[in-house]
Amino acid sequence: MDKLRIKGGSRLEGRVRISGAKNSALPAMAASVLTAEEVTLDNIPLVNDIFTTRRLLRELGVAVEFEGDHSVRLRAEKILSHEAPYDLVKTMRASVLVLGPLLGRTGRARVSLPGGCAIGARPINLHIKGLEKLGATVHTEHGYVEACSDRLKGAEIVFDKITVTGTENLMMAAALADGQTVLQNAACEPEIVDLAEMLKKMGARIQGAGTPTITIHGVQELHGTSHRIIPDRIEAGTFLVAGAMTHGELELIDSNPGHLASVIEKLRETGVNIETAAGRVKILGNGNLKSADVITSEYPGFATDMQAQYMALTTQTTGTSMITENIFENRFMHASELMRMGANIRIDGSRAIITGKTRLSGATVIASDLRASASLVLAALVAEGHTLIDRVYHLDRGYEKIEEKLQSVGAEIERLK
Ligand code: EPU
Repeated sequence: MDKLRIKGGSRLEGRVRISGAKNSALPAMAASVLTAEEVTLDNIPLVNDIFTTRRLLRELGVAVEFEGDHSVRLRAEKILSHEAPYDLVKTMRASVLVLGPLLGRTGRARVSLPGGCAIGARPINLHIKGLEKLGATVHTEHGYVEACSDRLKGAEIVFDKITVTGTENLMMAAALADGQTVLQNAACEPEIVDLAEMLKKMGARIQGAGTPTITIHGVQELHGTSHRIIPDRIEAGTFLVAGAMTHGELELIDSNPGHLASVIEKLRETGVNIETAAGRVKILGNGNLKSADVITSEYPGFATDMQAQYMALTTQTTGTSMITENIFENRFMHASELMRMGANIRIDGSRAIITGKTRLSGATVIASDLRASASLVLAALVAEGHTLIDRVYHLDRGYEKIEEKLQSVGAEIERLK
């Protein structure tokens, strides 16, 4: 298993190109199942979750070919299997994103239940409830969700709770349903808007994506398209925190500052200077960072996917910061590893209270999930001495060539095979 070794203390300076959004690319690839024609996607991040999705789609009978620089061509001429097997779903829970498209296109889907993961229970009951509203019969047996239907029928669906992949699954299924579907209390994340834009280019009739009410008029069939994936706002946010923590000067190119508003506002509150322009964000560090509280919430609030990285930052700000995690019930696994590096953190239910500024010292630490890993990398960048991060495969699921990008702006980081 690969490890990362990082020597702390370097000031980061230079330019970083932000990759395409993993959480946009995953539903976009799943959406290729909705049509027999070819779909081309550009700006695909070359991360392991994308390669897992390639394996999954190939098992369903989709031809998937990567070509050139970050492009993928997909063609689901015939669906040969209706199953997302346990082996793949347990590696990547976003595999459940084939449920809606398979059911919409073929009237059949069998998808392993994902089960809990490092950050929470993460059920998919709202995906299932929504599909039932569209007329599907759904059984859970032997750890699998089995759904079948004749052509799905449009319906009004009110989500009990805002769910990102749930909204995506329902939007894809409803695109081929008979009649009108209205999704209420839908997720508003930029990744939802990106998927809706792609589906519209395929011939879907969707209004309101990016607001809590999305209306979908089902069509008979969808056709091929080409689509460019939006920039990864979480990767960009992670590099902004790296700039802030190392008092550096980083310019992020191919990013979308509009999607980063809550992160930029919070970082400015801690005292850093951030300038934005079309497709670019520039951060100028400040040696005297101040504490600031954060509450995670759905978009446009502060993303739970930035919470761990922000916690690493608060170890380096002066004063006490309180972080309230409102989306997942167990997303503070990084705190104990940060404490092993010297951080002063107290966890009280869904709240973490961090007192800074503390001197961090390099240690051997274990990454528990994707964003937790990112927070350990950030802490290591300012820790005294060497940090060895184990289980880097979590990081490789969602950050493209993170060590190369960090090296290019001056970090001392190497991958040990
Ligand atoms: N929930 C339910 N029932 C459901 C669905 C969700 O109770 O049927 C709950 C979840 O347990 C959670 C909350 O609703 O407490 C929100 O979960 P959501 O469904 O929005 O999460 P997700 O769609 O599984 C996506 C991202 C996550 C990100 C969350 C929240 C993808 C592929 N994944 O997950 O990304 O944290 O939205 O923004 O889009 C990551 O990239 O590191 C990551 C974990």
